[in-house]
Amino acid sequence: MSGKLIDLNRRAYLVAGAGGGGIGTAICVMLAEAGATVIAVDKTELGRETATKALAPFEGGHLVLDADLSDQEAVDDMLVRASLQAGAIRGAVNVVGGMLPHHWTALTDPLAPEAFDDVMRFNLRPTLIASTAVARAIAAHGLGGSIVNVASAAGLVSMAYGAGYGAAKAALINLTRSMAVEWGRFRLRVNAVAPGTIRTQKLGRARFDTKETDEMRQRTRDVIPLGRRGEADDVAGAVLFLLSDLADYVSGQTLAIDGGALARAPYCDGDNLPVFVSDPVLRSRLTGEEAGS
Ligand SMILES: NC(=O)c1ccc[n+]([C@@H]2O[C@H](COP(=O)([O-])OP(=O)(O)OC[C@H]3O[C@@H](n4cnc5c(N)ncnc54)[C@H](O)[C@@H]3O)[C@@H](O)[C@H]2O)c1
Repeated sequence: MSGKLIDLNRRAYLVAGAGGGGIGTAICVMLAEAGATVIAVDKTELGRETATKALAPFEGGHLVLDADLSDQEAVDDMLVRASLQAGAIRGAVNVVGGMLPHHWTALTDPLAPEAFDDVMRFNLRPTLIASTAVARAIAAHGLGGSIVNVASAAGLVSMAYGAGYGAAKAALINLTRSMAVEWGRFRLRVNAVAPGTIRTQKLGRARFDTKETDEMRQRTRDVIPLGRRGEADDVAGAVLFLLSDLADYVSGQTLAIDGGALARAPYCDGDNLPVFVSDPVLRSRLTGEEAGS
């Protein structure tokens, strides 16, 4: 490792799903800042334009490429082109996935099975295809590497009205472990990050929560110990650590990036007191807040 504690040292990393303007794009920027050569892949023109703009300020021969990451042949072709220009591929960050509006369904909804199949495919197939292609390349050049899969806190707990998404991310976390075990012999580490709620803009897509109201901010403070939603850079920082040599003996793990939300006891209220603690004097003594405030 050089003088800097984190230096990706001109190694080439694929960012799969790079141009949404949210988590994937923030990862491209942070990797470029840390000295990586970024291979940003997105299947839409808007996504490629966004990644190109984000990477423009950085030197380092970054590439922005077109491929549908759920298409094995397209990914294999893209990786051949990429390694000719960027050199040996040393890893990947798999970002593609999420929950589209039609994936929000109650389990009893007649459309739930279709939504389930679709969300599973959307969240698993691109990661499976891109990771296996990268693993083959790493096995061939023998230099070792690191893959990070973007899962979700939903995969560690549950996802009411989006059960398929929760199940897909739980499967992704398990797939991460299988990859870590199978590919350890290639000196390839595989880990996942599990973001909680992250504030991202959605390019070209409507969101439920474009405007954050005071009530939403209060609810956020009630459930997230750090009192705020995450930012894309919060996820990118954890990804950077997992790709770097600082994490050289870390594999098969899932790191929650959730402001402490999953650490909260399920029987506590917004004041972090058990729901049965009703005595206002005791509550005020423990929280330091005046009773009734
Ligand atoms: N925002 C949150 O609160 C949150 C929380 C937990 C997990 N996550 C996860 O973060 C990831 C989303 O990150 P983002 O904000 O950068 O997403 P995004 O949806 O804004 O961007 C993803 C990009 O991937 C591209 N893409 C989609 N399918 C593709 C394919 N088959 N081939 C090539 N490109 C493709 C899209 O064009 C898009 O530009 C998802 O995996 C999601 O589950 C987000």
